[in-house]
Amino acid sequence: MDRIEIHPVKYFKGEVIPAPDKSISHRAVIFSSLANGRSIIRNFLRAEDPFSTINAFRALGVQIEDSNEEIIIDGRGLNGLKEPEDVINCGNSGTTIRLISGILAGNPFFSVLTGDASLRSRPMGRIIIPLSQMGAEIRARSNNKYPPLSIKGGYLKAVRYEMPVASAQVKSSIILAGLYTDGITEVIEPIKSRDHTERMLPAFGAEINIKDNVISIKGRAELKSNLIEIPGDFSSAAFFLVGALIIDNSDLIIKNVGINPTRTGVLEVLQRMGADIKIENTRYISGEPVADLYCTGGKKLKALNIKREQIPSMIDEFPILCVAATQAEGVTTIRGAEELRVKESDRIKSMVSELRKMGVEIEEYPDGLSIKGSSSLRGADIESHNDHRIAMAMSIAGLIAEGVTTINGVSSVNISFPGFFDIIRRLTH
Ligand code: S3P
Repeated sequence: MDRIEIHPVKYFKGEVIPAPDKSISHRAVIFSSLANGRSIIRNFLRAEDPFSTINAFRALGVQIEDSNEEIIIDGRGLNGLKEPEDVINCGNSGTTIRLISGILAGNPFFSVLTGDASLRSRPMGRIIIPLSQMGAEIRARSNNKYPPLSIKGGYLKAVRYEMPVASAQVKSSIILAGLYTDGITEVIEPIKSRDHTERMLPAFGAEINIKDNVISIKGRAELKSNLIEIPGDFSSAAFFLVGALIIDNSDLIIKNVGINPTRTGVLEVLQRMGADIKIENTRYISGEPVADLYCTGGKKLKALNIKREQIPSMIDEFPILCVAATQAEGVTTIRGAEELRVKESDRIKSMVSELRKMGVEIEEYPDGLSIKGSSSLRGADIESHNDHRIAMAMSIAGLIAEGVTTINGVSSVNISFPGFFDIIRRLTH
């Protein structure tokens, strides 16, 4: 019985600490594994996706221990990984498969990477093309499009690569491959995507330069061990943030949230829509800006048009922004968002079909959608499409719907936020 029933609530009240950041947790494991010596990771996200990364590095010969307090990694250096004895299963995690591919491209052994049904339908040409240009031999299913991927790496040459899509996963994969070259690799982004790799890798000793949208990495760095503390995940916080804004009488403090500007596009959008959100106590944790967010519900939101340039900084917040849009005055339109079709599910299609079941008027476009606001939601039988962010966004919608909402495939939340429903229960009682 992989489902949960959601009933309407009167408010969200109290304090919440969101799950640790998923993107930063992945990177902490990856860079620690490539460093020389023992690294420690605190406040690691204990969820399925980051564990896919840990399992992959264990398969590559890295000793990783979880003391429950912290993750302890005995890094093997850039050239200390060993050939895996079996296929590496990256589960549901796009970040795992794409970032590790960049590393395997620079290693002179054979490996095969696969994942669950969702990951096996996600596009890999975007990493295969640049990594092949650098010199790796990579093959993939369906004419080099989808996992499983086989990689025979080795000597790589530095390239200058202009990315056709804004993607932190692709950018990071090329940066990691760049570590295995004798020169300077340059990656050019069409629109700036999340920059956690550029912030964290220099703390391990890599030389990275950033000029506008061009990121350069010098090859053959000696990475040294580190102590990393993971901030709270803005993308996980966003569910509570929107919940507090659309449930009248709410008063919520979200503590210890990462507010890296490459991640917080939706914060700015919600403020422009009229939301009452205050950002307090800004500080830095492991090179990342962190703050506490004070959110008050009950203010009428106003619809907005969202365009292509804004999408990368709110790429994972699309499902919950759609839920906020159902309560805004006017029609919210989101365009230039076709990347959403190749996430853990086709998130445009998933949100259109599930919000329609709750009575929302929506129009779907190839690159986005428009949502008629001021909607009264009604409880419905909802599918998560095995996508953690659809399950969580639709659960928040269920909290303001009339009647009972059932979310099927709810265990998908374990990908990024295992304690999600416990927190909801606490905030509503
Ligand atoms: C991620 C980057 C984003 C995001 C994903 C995590 C990362 O994907 O959607 O959840 O950790 O680098 P893209 O970079 O492919 O847009």
